[in-house]
Amino acid sequence: MWGGRFESGPGAIMEAINVSIDFDRHLYRQDIAASKAHAGMLAKQGIITADDAKKIAHGLDTILSEIESGKFKFKRALEDIHMNVEARLTEMIGAPAGRLHTARSRNDQVATDFRLWMRDTIDATDSALADFQRALAQKALEHADTVMPGLTHLQTAQPVTFGHHMLAYVEMTARDRGRFADARKRLNESPLGSGALAGTSFDLDRAMTAKALGFDRPSANSLDAVSDRDFAMETLSAASITAVHLSRLAEEIVIWTSPLTGLAKLSDKYTTGSSMMPQKRNPDAAELVRAKAGRIIGAMNALMIVMKGLPLAYAKDMQEDKEGVMDALSALSLSIAAMAGMVADLEPDTRRMHQAAGEGYATATDLADWLVQALKIPFREAHHITGRIVGKAADAGVALDALPLAAMQAIEPRITKDVFNVLSVERSVKSRACYGGTAPKNVRSQAQKWLKKLEKGQD
Ligand code: ARG
Repeated sequence: MWGGRFESGPGAIMEAINVSIDFDRHLYRQDIAASKAHAGMLAKQGIITADDAKKIAHGLDTILSEIESGKFKFKRALEDIHMNVEARLTEMIGAPAGRLHTARSRNDQVATDFRLWMRDTIDATDSALADFQRALAQKALEHADTVMPGLTHLQTAQPVTFGHHMLAYVEMTARDRGRFADARKRLNESPLGSGALAGTSFDLDRAMTAKALGFDRPSANSLDAVSDRDFAMETLSAASITAVHLSRLAEEIVIWTSPLTGLAKLSDKYTTGSSMMPQKRNPDAAELVRAKAGRIIGAMNALMIVMKGLPLAYAKDMQEDKEGVMDALSALSLSIAAMAGMVADLEPDTRRMHQAAGEGYATATDLADWLVQALKIPFREAHHITGRIVGKAADAGVALDALPLAAMQAIEPRITKDVFNVLSVERSVKSRACYGGTAPKNVRSQAQKWLKKLEKGQD
């Protein structure tokens, strides 16, 4: 395709380092669509004949079905997807195939194909994330009243509801979807017609190809269009943040399902056994989701490092963009599916959660708040009094609500038996009814709001 001034073919090592067909073959659908749009536009502009355009389009359709049925023979000697498709087109239709590359370079071609691929992948990711949100919101509704220990520093902090915990991830996922949507918006410009770097002397209708491919507009600067990969970096950033969110939930599932906490169970669907220890039930899927985050963030780093020293415009370094992106986004898609499945599968042990929620003097803040509200004691002082009461309960080896009233009154004489109303974990979560709090009624209304929204296909 480019051999005019060359006397011999590339050496074996050159071919091995140069070849990209092993991964950019995944762009075949986008490559063919872009070529069809380009040929149609060239004909409309009178740059090629309508007859040639027809032969080209027909040939490209045949190639598409050859690839989809597995009959197409990808050749490594032809380097990449663009040259594999064009070579086959030449085999099939002869001379007219040679006109397809008029006013086009592989540089604007690959920039177009990759943006189209990214757009499709973002759309698929978005709908997978919506499924994940549905699974979380459903679980939240089922467990609006399930009390569990809320933690800070992995130490028992205050009781929360399991539903509230699930809904925290619904919110994170909504922002993740927003980041993908932003990336999609920004990438949706057509580089086609930018040529190698400087634009083209042919009178192209770039708006026509942009429209045919579903882009919002043609890109305004040919150098920018062929040489930036910010759309890939931005999508990988969105993917990395999503992966971090998934990984945190995965880690929590690992903790909850460990016999050390016994807070929840996964079924056989999402666990594996040990070849040696018959009692084991390992949360491998959650662990792998946690690990995939490393891989996804790694791909983002790798691409940024590839790009950061490149002068404008195209350099072959940029061919290294696709493999990491494709690997990362397929790892993400698997992670989302696995997490959605695990969330649906997860069975909290509500008795154990309730018990653990009350451990570690988790309602101490409720006691302090009661002192403020019932006795009008300033919060700082109430905090100090509560600390002494907790100390006394700890010395006696009992929970707060098992400490006799007299023992509390020895520290603060104005305390009455009403205090026991606020010391249970149920009362604690129920009292946190201010907007955004963990109260079961808040959880129910938020879960219902989300399920309705997701049903309508909004985010
Ligand atoms: N396979 C190449 C890539 O993915 C296509 C662009 C090649 N352009 C060039 N000037 N060699 O980047």
